Amino acid sequence: MKDSAQNTILITGGAGFIGSNLTEHFLKLGHNVICLDNFSTGHRHNLKDFIDNPKFKLIEGDIRNIDDCIKAVEDADYVLHQAALGSVPRSINDPITTNDVNVSGFLNILIASRDAKVKRFVYAASSSTYGDSEGLPKVEEVIGKPLSPYAITKYVNELYAEIFSKTYGLETIGLRYFNVFGRKQDPDGAYAAVIPKFVKQLMNYESPVINGDGNYSRDFTYIDNVIQMNELAITTQNQSAFNTVYNTAFGDRNTLNDLVKYLKKYLSELDSKIADVEIIYGENRAGDIPHSLASIDKAKKLLGYNPKYSLEEGLKEAVSWYWNNLK
Ligand SMILES: NC(=O)c1ccc[n+]([C@@H]2O[C@H](COP(=O)([O-])OP(=O)(O)OC[C@H]3O[C@@H](n4cnc5c(N)ncnc54)[C@H](O)[C@@H]3O)[C@@H](O)[C@H]2O)c1
Repeated sequence: MKDSAQNTILITGGAGFIGSNLTEHFLKLGHNVICLDNFSTGHRHNLKDFIDNPKFKLIEGDIRNIDDCIKAVEDADYVLHQAALGSVPRSINDPITTNDVNVSGFLNILIASRDAKVKRFVYAASSSTYGDSEGLPKVEEVIGKPLSPYAITKYVNELYAEIFSKTYGLETIGLRYFNVFGRKQDPDGAYAAVIPKFVKQLMNYESPVINGDGNYSRDFTYIDNVIQMNELAITTQNQSAFNTVYNTAFGDRNTLNDLVKYLKKYLSELDSKIADVEIIYGENRAGDIPHSLASIDKAKKLLGYNPKYSLEEGLKEAVSWYWNNLK
């Protein structure tokens, strides 16, 4: 952070993929970090590099419990709210739990943050909020109808944040993440994200299954670009940058076929047999949008965002991390 002051940052979901990367980053900058997590999808091994750091505090608790939220936010200057149940298919299979965590839990942490008078509340929003809108690139002000229960919950978060800004004067910034990937993203489980899942399968000579013909495209976003956005969101002093949402992406799109091509290329440099693993094509998945591409103009203009990692650059880093940590 640009200001040299030491702040205390509450990172909810700090044992998860994005939250643990944010925790590591802000600890390195010398801040105190409190992590609130119930380990439902996060892992203790994500905390191992800083669990003994005196500036780190773990609160094992649930955002569905308001008392846990009040306790966690007590000493916080800033909140980076990441805790949620991700995954469109999970929300289709179990909309009630997704809603409880992503909407009721969100409201709890928002209320606790308001009452503790935190300086700013930054939260993980989602590109799924663009729903069925077909225009590309996606600009923040033009959204469609949600295509899944998960997308509804993430949109409701934005509505609540806006109301809390207007009604109670809480400074909020929402970051609409687009397909984030990188170190520590979980490759396992029924709801694993495509990149870590495919990396692990290819490393084990198993065929990845692409849903559809592989021509669907995404704005794949490397974790370090997301970290930059979170840092900008809590440090910006630009008055017109608050109480709104930002696309958090690289600003380019690649197809699933491109993605697999790059993964095979980088992995086969480490193990030549991976070049021979076949790709299987399956059915399209319910709730998936065909194409996704972010305009990052608003983030550039109001926050000074300047993403450093393209898909290819991020994949090189991610593949090397998985190679060293999964083998
Ligand atoms: N990864 C992406 O591509 C992506 C894209 C758009 C939005 N997001 C959002 O970013 C945030 C972080 O996602 P991630 O990919 O790191 O997921 P993740 O599953 O790795 O992390 C979520 C963390 O929240 C914790 N958590 C879940 N329910 C909780 C509860 N009730 N109480 C306390 N903690 C709870 C989990 O244990 C986990 O550690 C989520 O809000 C997600 O919706 C992610």
